[in-house]
Amino acid sequence: MQANPLRVPSAEAEADRASNGAAEQKPLAAAELDGERLLHTHATFSAPVQAVLQRLEQEFGRILDGARAETPPAEPIYVTRPFLPPLDEFTPLLERIWRTRVLTNGGPYHRELEHRLRDHLGVPEIALFNNATTALIVALRALNLSGEVITTPYSFVATSHALLWSGLTPVFADVDPRTLNLDPAAIEAAITPRTSAILPVHCYGHPCDVEAIDAIGRRHGLKVIYDAAHAFGVRRQGRSVLTYGDLSVLSFHATKVFNTFEGGAVVCADAARKDQIDKLKNFGHDGETCVVDVGMNGKMSELNAALGLVQLKYVDSALDCRRAIDAAYRAGLRGVRGVRCLDDASEDTANYAYFPILIDPEYPISRDALNEGLKREGIHPRRYFYPLISEFPMYRSLPSARRELLPVAARAADRVLCLPIYPDLDPAVVARVISRIANP
Ligand SMILES: Cc1ncc(COP(=O)(O)O)c(C=O)c1O
Repeated sequence: MQANPLRVPSAEAEADRASNGAAEQKPLAAAELDGERLLHTHATFSAPVQAVLQRLEQEFGRILDGARAETPPAEPIYVTRPFLPPLDEFTPLLERIWRTRVLTNGGPYHRELEHRLRDHLGVPEIALFNNATTALIVALRALNLSGEVITTPYSFVATSHALLWSGLTPVFADVDPRTLNLDPAAIEAAITPRTSAILPVHCYGHPCDVEAIDAIGRRHGLKVIYDAAHAFGVRRQGRSVLTYGDLSVLSFHATKVFNTFEGGAVVCADAARKDQIDKLKNFGHDGETCVVDVGMNGKMSELNAALGLVQLKYVDSALDCRRAIDAAYRAGLRGVRGVRCLDDASEDTANYAYFPILIDPEYPISRDALNEGLKREGIHPRRYFYPLISEFPMYRSLPSARRELLPVAARAADRVLCLPIYPDLDPAVVARVISRIANP
């Protein structure tokens, strides 16, 4: 079993975080890697995170000494591993659920989590859901859309599926080569008289060009719904990316930076919109005897909401660990010919949800051969997002799905590999992954 570096008593964790405030930054001993600092000395990390970092540094030392990570990991390593808080912190909340028998329908944990997430994320209103796919479908319904919606082919299939479930036609546009998010120029070129909205994705948690996309929406009278499934906690110039567009949709699925086992949310600008969305996620009910719309059951249960409350205490430390692993991969892979790390986009607070690399033709073996080689060693990266959504059977006959119209997305899908990243990922595994990629 791997030790959980975040497993600290909560009071201690709070005190630790407080003592790591901006005024008392503790410099971290930095390792040298090819003359570069592995971790910037100005970085500030909490004590448990520093322990992880120190182990990362030791592992880097071994690689620099020529060690070729000898032993494969004892257990398979997947691209992610859900973060869970200490069970003993969750048990009292479960006991209360058992005592009160309030299991769902906007109970006290649901209300409290909405309140706490609103503050944590810095958003005006949030409505919790049972998952992001339902939340996307409800968000589209709330905006009363019809016809075509411009979206990205470079995403998880749920993005486009939500459009088909809503009777809307996806129109795929190409992505920007730097961020792999929808290219505003390609969006503008895809607008027709039937277009009613734009559905971009903050892919890997990196923000879209939100100013440009929101401006296109305003200019052409189109709604903008951001699929922000990956973008928990991401900010630009201090502002949450979830506050752009008309609506943003988050996922709290097990694989996400913040998870409630399954879960999701719609972020909106005002109480009237939240009220509409709350009705839509509850069958369209408005009171006991009145139904005002064709709603569905999208409600988050008390169990998931209670877990979310405990998870929220740990999410900042978890992000610190992710940040350290991201920094370690970047430093370790720098200079490996044919391997490109995706740069941060415009965020000043990133969430390090994924670590995608692009395998260029000058790399000695193909992306798929590298993937298979790592898998043989018990390390399972994922080719997110391959194939493109536009290549699945229910989309491929759309005029906008033609591969030659989506060259940037197609090239990325053929080259991408997402490496394992999660808060308690063993630093020895990070070192091993780097070593294997550097010496295929
Ligand atoms: C971009 C994107 N949109 C939507 C979803 C759907 O989220 P959920 O599993 O919560 O329904 C996912 C899930 O991974 C996703 O990655």
